[in-house]
Amino acid sequence: MEKTVSILGFAGSLRKGSHNKALLGAALELVPKGARLEIFDLEGIPPYNQDLENQPPEKVKEFKAKIRAADAILIATPEYNYSIPGILKNAIDCASRPHGDNAFEHKPVAIMGASPSMIGTARAQYHLRQCFVYLTCFALNQPEVMVSSAQEKIDKNGKVTDQQTRERIRELLERLVAWTDTLKGA
Ligand code: FNR
Repeated sequence: MEKTVSILGFAGSLRKGSHNKALLGAALELVPKGARLEIFDLEGIPPYNQDLENQPPEKVKEFKAKIRAADAILIATPEYNYSIPGILKNAIDCASRPHGDNAFEHKPVAIMGASPSMIGTARAQYHLRQCFVYLTCFALNQPEVMVSSAQEKIDKNGKVTDQQTRERIRELLERLVAWTDTLKGA
């Protein structure tokens, strides 16, 4: 029997009407056969303080345990000031410490992002890829899911209505599952 590939997804936005949470919502609907996706909410992860890194709060312990238990990671990032939002960077920093206890190590990771602008989070996504170098996790290069003019592709209820965007998300998930199998030597 084939093993299920477990994916942990999280968005770099805390707001209820987030376009990036909406992308994760679509991913839940589009996850391929043989894989399952769980969404984690970053709300409640406190600012990282290295003085306290050996006594992490419950929320950080939970986040790290879920990353470790997952076969692959899916991140939906907004773009803030041409980079990733502070809450996403903070969550990544928390999960990567203390030194030698980086939960992301060797994980396959896929990125997507949505923005009302024409650029569709491209600059944020490239900054995120730079973090992955130090995190020693393996980012999927293609397809790039950069959703521009997001307000035209996601309705008021947070449903991704644009078929092309849905197809890109479906393809991203399929490629992430294949990439995970490749890295596992399956
Ligand atoms: C933004 N926004 C934004 N958009 C963009 O395309 N490039 C950018 O550099 C920025 N910078 C930026 C900074 C800050 C502090 C905020 C709050 C917003 C707009 C951003 O793309 C928009 O608010 C998205 O809707 C945020 O993603 P969620 O919350 O919808 O997932």
